[in-house]
Amino acid sequence: MAYVVTDACIRCKYMDCVEVCPVDCFYEGENMLVINPSECIDCGVCEPECPAEAILPDTESGLESWLELNAKYSAVWPNITTKGTPPADADEFKGVDGKLEAYFSENPGQGS
Ligand code: SF4
Ligand code: F3S
Repeated sequence: MAYVVTDACIRCKYMDCVEVCPVDCFYEGENMLVINPSECIDCGVCEPECPAEAILPDTESGLESWLELNAKYSAVWPNITTKGTPPADADEFKGVDGKLEAYFSENPGQGS
């Protein structure tokens, strides 16, 4: 089992999650973060920290594709352990549907 980041993160990218992870297993894309499911120790500490409620345990149904996406991109995006500045328009994308199709970027972030 692992926790995964879902599309609620896209273009919100608040990064509160990275500050609390005891094993530093968040990885940064251009407009969202993912968790490395192999490194996540299922502590659950990050879940309530996300203002966008983007982090869920993969035991919830329907999250298989998100587990795959987290595994795929955590292997190629840089590690992030320090909260940076969220996008200026982050709040405008909170709770918006269909963000994977509309806005997902495969490009890596800067990491930190
Ligand atoms: Fe890190 Fe714990 Fe969240 Fe896994 S559940 S990503 S180990 S804070
Ligand atoms: Fe994304 Fe929430 Fe972290 S919006 S960057 S999963 S705090």
